[in-house]
Amino acid sequence: MKKLFIVANWKAHKTITETTEWFDELAKSKEQFVQKDDKHIIICPSFHLLAEAKKIIDEQNLPISLGAQNVAAFDEGAYTGEIAARQLQGLVTYIIIGHSERRLTFAESDEILQKKVQIAKAGGFEVIYCVQGDMTIVPQEIQIVAYEPIAAIGSGHADTPENAEAVAHAIKEKNPHVQAVLYGGSVTDENVHSFTSLSSIDGVLIGGASLDPVTFTAIIINA
Ligand code: PGA
Repeated sequence: MKKLFIVANWKAHKTITETTEWFDELAKSKEQFVQKDDKHIIICPSFHLLAEAKKIIDEQNLPISLGAQNVAAFDEGAYTGEIAARQLQGLVTYIIIGHSERRLTFAESDEILQKKVQIAKAGGFEVIYCVQGDMTIVPQEIQIVAYEPIAAIGSGHADTPENAEAVAHAIKEKNPHVQAVLYGGSVTDENVHSFTSLSSIDGVLIGGASLDPVTFTAIIINA
């Protein structure tokens, strides 16, 4: 059986206090998912929350990994406001690169994203590379892709499972180096299984519905 990726992308949400509260709430139901080792549960909070999240995960022995939502396209140095891959060592295992919000709002080109991928991979991180369809270029180093159609993000209108399956299949066909394709875009506790039950889909990337710990727990259980 495939081990599903359940990835929470908190985007620019939550304070340190809200992060503590979120994990406390999730931990209350950990018996429901802690025993089974059938899912990679990955939380991607903003940078300033990572140390607090790591502390709680370690203290409570939660079966959760951390990811960053972005990384600098440069090595450590004089880049005010950026976070370099080396600064994330010991904090995260995964880095999301190429989210459509980075491509559109922050004008990140395929060239910049390729540089980020190289730096992240050289630092030993797993990259979750977001694409908007099977035509998006996927760098050779990438093993995990998240297919996120723009119209489905934050809209409440998820892609159809049939289309998501077809695109996930096409991504794998065109990029034999890709081992896992996740679906993202208006995933909820109610529709998650319609995606994770498909043969070419290996997990989900969840934005809005991951902000509530009760809903996110339901997503883990229902996936
Ligand atoms: P959404 O966001 O679940 O709020 O649609 C998904 C994403 O952008 O990763």
